[in-house]
Amino acid sequence: MHVWLKQFIQRELITIKKLFWNHLNSICRKVAPFLDKIQEYLSFRKGCIFLDPHLFGIMGREPKFPRHCFSDYTHQLYFDALISKPKLIVELGTDYGVSTRVLLAAAENIGATLLSIDIKDCSGIDINEKYKKKWYFEQCDDVYFAQHKFDHWKSNQGIEGKIDFLFIDTSHLYDHTVQEIHVWFPKLSDHATVIFHDTNVRTFYRRHDSSFGIGWNNNRGVIRAIEEYLKTSLDEKVDFVGCVQGWAIKHNPLCVGYTIMKRI
Ligand SMILES: C[S@@+](CC[C@H](N)C(=O)[O-])C[C@H]1O[C@@H](n2cnc3c(N)ncnc32)[C@H](O)[C@@H]1O
Repeated sequence: MHVWLKQFIQRELITIKKLFWNHLNSICRKVAPFLDKIQEYLSFRKGCIFLDPHLFGIMGREPKFPRHCFSDYTHQLYFDALISKPKLIVELGTDYGVSTRVLLAAAENIGATLLSIDIKDCSGIDINEKYKKKWYFEQCDDVYFAQHKFDHWKSNQGIEGKIDFLFIDTSHLYDHTVQEIHVWFPKLSDHATVIFHDTNVRTFYRRHDSSFGIGWNNNRGVIRAIEEYLKTSLDEKVDFVGCVQGWAIKHNPLCVGYTIMKRI
């Protein structure tokens, strides 16, 4: 009876805690622009300065407000793409094109091609014509594209070889991420780099500059799919680095999480 009561109280406390955070989350969403303004004054650390004219040219001046859920990683993605020296970069999830711009700046520097895939039409995003020469956009479900269209697309464009750099930033749901890994990973080259964004999605998340953002609960969707693929357990709330199943892996938990994996 005593144990039963203890378990009951613990369960109720967890439910109350979840309700509290969800409620606070929806209130914060309603007043988000106001909160952004306050944070603009309170945040004391600056973002990364862009030295590169391509990155500066395509992204504009950083840091800027309001911050978004990719603010901590624009410079990181650029660096990771450059040092991987890819010929073919594939981006899953374009939306308003923050990562697209970063990847195009890197592509311009190293002579790579970028293929972006999104289920909605993002072909009209505002990108300087100069950078569009290296860019292909396909509106499609990314899993379907890998299974039925990718090979055909490559031969149509006269592109040879496998994918050297894969950036995944789509639904952040577990089942979908499992499928993405299943269909896209066989298309990777021997030394490919894969970046997963949103590996630490939370109701509220913290950025490098001490500001916070409003997230959601995806039940560890992305990181769970990676755990399953690598047959290991990972704590996405902390930084980690390691070598698992032939992959070097490094994770940064800030700002909804950024996990880089490189085949070694
Ligand atoms: C978080 S946004 C991407 C943000 C983008 N990477 C950026 O930096 O601006 C997620 C995108 O994934 C797309 N998406 C969701 N499910 C998808 C699917 N099954 N196939 C392709 N794109 C999908 C959505 O339409 C949305 O534009």
